[in-house]
Amino acid sequence: MELLGIDIGGSGIKAALVDVEKGVLVSDRYRLPTPEPSVPDAVAGEVAKAVRHFHWTGPVGCTFPAVVKGGVALSAANVDKSWIGTDIQALLHNRTGCPVLVLNDADAAGLAEIEFGAGKGEKGLVILLTFGTGIGSAVFVNGALVPNTELGHIEIRGKEGEKRAAARIRTEKKLGWKKWAKRVDEYLGRLEYLLSPDLFIIGGGVSKDHAQFLPLLHTQTRIVPAKLLNEAGIVGAALAARAIA
Ligand code: BGC
Repeated sequence: MELLGIDIGGSGIKAALVDVEKGVLVSDRYRLPTPEPSVPDAVAGEVAKAVRHFHWTGPVGCTFPAVVKGGVALSAANVDKSWIGTDIQALLHNRTGCPVLVLNDADAAGLAEIEFGAGKGEKGLVILLTFGTGIGSAVFVNGALVPNTELGHIEIRGKEGEKRAAARIRTEKKLGWKKWAKRVDEYLGRLEYLLSPDLFIIGGGVSKDHAQFLPLLHTQTRIVPAKLLNEAGIVGAALAARAIA
């Protein structure tokens, strides 16, 4: 079965058709810049453009970088605050005409990694973290997702973890890999202390550079890079849309 996956991020909206039995893209990857300001109406317009690009009328899975419950955004850390309380599913359904399922972006990436990537067959407590504009988290217990965990907001030295250790902070503050890895190490250490996971999966755009920083980390927990790189969000969105297919 093929479904359309859409990944809404802080800088881009990416869409592709996904073979949900194999977990692979079966079309080109269509990308549009996220409008600024990233208000609901403008973003929904771009999502509708992406759907039209594929001449798609079937179910759509869509990620969003916030807490999403029953299709409604309940937070907005790195997007326009007007999203809070917006029924994203209803909005996108109205604009695209397609049935739409919306879920948190890191949860989607996690679903893709657990089914087809670095988390395949892993039991126990698995934590996938996406390092990008913020830090997203997807927590799995014996393969089952605990949605909307928001571990990027855990406080470290009086600041939210993602404000110290997201990949964006490395580029903004021009930190070398070693300095940034120290921050990531401290952040992961805090998660270990609180949750005693069995596996960390490191995702997000920066995971392609894992050779630069994974060897610099000192966690006791096994730690591996994500396998689906920047396709995880699109694939996971499509996998989630099986629920409405
Ligand atoms: C948001 C999360 C999101 C993460 C990655 C955080 O700021 O609160 O919902 O998953 O960024 O985009």
